Amino acid sequence: MEQLTNNVTPMPRIGDKAPSFKAVTTQGEINFPEDYKGSWVILFSHPADFTPVCTSEFMTFASMEEQFAKANCKLVGLSVDGLYSHIAWLRNIKEKIEYKGMKNIEVKFPLIEDITMNVAKLYGMIQPGESSTKAVRAVFFIDPNGIIRTILYYPLSCGRNFDELYRTLIALQTADAFGVATPADWRPGDDVIVPPAGSCGTAKERMEGKDNLTCYDWYFCTKKLPKEEVFEKIIKK
Ligand code: BEZ
Repeated sequence: MEQLTNNVTPMPRIGDKAPSFKAVTTQGEINFPEDYKGSWVILFSHPADFTPVCTSEFMTFASMEEQFAKANCKLVGLSVDGLYSHIAWLRNIKEKIEYKGMKNIEVKFPLIEDITMNVAKLYGMIQPGESSTKAVRAVFFIDPNGIIRTILYYPLSCGRNFDELYRTLIALQTADAFGVATPADWRPGDDVIVPPAGSCGTAKERMEGKDNLTCYDWYFCTKKLPKEEVFEKIIKK
């Protein structure tokens, strides 16, 4: 684990290898990210067990687990609580909580116990201005090669937008699979952005409309990418 001279672990960044750790979880021990090689993983933290925003988030994540799995993505949660608290909370959710049409929800993905805060600190999930004892709502998207591709942070009070988490995953996979970028608010079926012209000749050709692209100017060109093509390549049947 890399350390700065003042003994603070630097926060991982987009493009970094996901820091490795071993942890006890509600699904047994994991060796992260090595156990997840070949899959996308969303590693996310939440502030505490038996709290309402977290409960709504866990129920939503659990009810979308299959949707994420079809996009080759596994889920791993973490909070600064112990294993028995995690087990009791997940049992309580399944047995007692009915929320927005979700009930009898079983959380099958691993929830890391992190009483020591070792993992939370390794991933910059403890942000003392917000809380020095609870993890903020961090989300790390890690690709099948163990590289961090997106990081999102939310404060304690604000539950995450799960449409956005899924949209981000599909946008990352679309960028990889088709060699394109995705514009503001992109959703599958919307036009995608092609890489910028790399020469004056290409810029000229694009502006002359030779490439079957829609060009707003020479550096901003889009093309059609039907939703069916995106899903055909990304979503398991
Ligand atoms: C919650 O999940 O409800 C929560 C947790 C910590 C602080 C505030 C809200």
